[in-house]
Amino acid sequence: MTTLDIARLRAETPACERLIHFNNAGASLMPAPVYKAMLDHLALEQSVGGYEAEDDACEVLEDFYDAFATMLNCDRSEIAYVENATRAWDMAFYSLPLVEGDRILTAEAEYVSNFLGFLHQARRRGLKIDVVPSDASGQLDLDAMERMVTDKTRLIAITHIPTQGGLVNPAEEVGRIARRHGITYLLDACQSAGQMALDVEKIGCQLLSGTGRKFLRGPRGTGFLYVSRTILERLDPPFIDLHAATWTDARSFELRSDARRFENWESYVAGRVGLRAAVRYALEVDLDQIRARVVMLADRLREELARLPGINVRDLGRTKSGIVTFTKEDELPRTIQERLRAAGINVSVSSKSSAQLDFGRRGLSQVVRASVHYFNTEDEIRIFCKSIYPRMRNT
Ligand SMILES: Cc1ncc(COP(=O)(O)O)c(C=O)c1O
Repeated sequence: MTTLDIARLRAETPACERLIHFNNAGASLMPAPVYKAMLDHLALEQSVGGYEAEDDACEVLEDFYDAFATMLNCDRSEIAYVENATRAWDMAFYSLPLVEGDRILTAEAEYVSNFLGFLHQARRRGLKIDVVPSDASGQLDLDAMERMVTDKTRLIAITHIPTQGGLVNPAEEVGRIARRHGITYLLDACQSAGQMALDVEKIGCQLLSGTGRKFLRGPRGTGFLYVSRTILERLDPPFIDLHAATWTDARSFELRSDARRFENWESYVAGRVGLRAAVRYALEVDLDQIRARVVMLADRLREELARLPGINVRDLGRTKSGIVTFTKEDELPRTIQERLRAAGINVSVSSKSSAQLDFGRRGLSQVVRASVHYFNTEDEIRIFCKSIYPRMRNT
């Protein structure tokens, strides 16, 4: 393993010269080769035509599936390109043959749109939702999860790294529970893809969703879905088109036999080119090294913030990610975000409306979310912490 060449990685992230970008959990900065791959494809569309550009780029577009197969340790036929993580997750969830009385096992840090999907289908199909409590560390309680499995539990669906905190849920241990009980396992890896290695065999999930623009550093409006061959035939997409299925006879059709039954025919082709480039870039940088550096930077940021007066670092969990959340006694998260933005520092804010269970339990209404990536530096962390109290010296 070589160490990361931070100078090169920053040179390929030109905004680093002007910005401290601690909003990688919102949308990261695209590396120059990703941006160029997209622009080149758009230029090709402009010069030869959209369909013709797609034909000309067919090798790169096919490599999208190989790049994801390498990143996730699966087969290329198990990958679908979709427009975002929410749609990827929806396509998986709404395809499952769940019927009245079936139970879903999830956790307190579940992503808002996923939980809305549970509520929606609970209302429409009479499904039951069981929420596993968190343990003392703040991660989902594995013993409680095991105890809560019933003979009606058909789905375990959890979020690996929540949007609203530094926690990493124990995805592999959950996979062992799912396997032991023969329950389908859907993992929301939206915040983990690109900041750590993900191996679907080790995790033991049959379904995994993610987005392009966050830690993978791909373009906005792109996402992906992994669907294991072992369950594909049992999944009936909520809607189909001429790409997902073939109209075989006047009154019959056949679904595709691979994960592309969850794709659309029309899609953002330049986005697929860009997301493929982003995955290749992350693989070249090396996901284990990315993880090590992200953890080092996030730990440093938490330590430095915790030393400041009036700051409460809010991250939970035994294992932590590149997401750092905190509150400040005398200043609202939104005000901090706006003030930092004016100083060239990007962060975001997480609110209770996106985390009813998690923030409700912890009595939080909003937190500042500062999310670091491998191209960030310790110098940036120092500047960031000084900017939290701009008039205070030597903190
Ligand atoms: C954990 C998690 N899951 C899913 C999503 C949704 O991703 P997208 O906006 O690409 O649909 C997010 C976005 O913040 C997220 O943090």
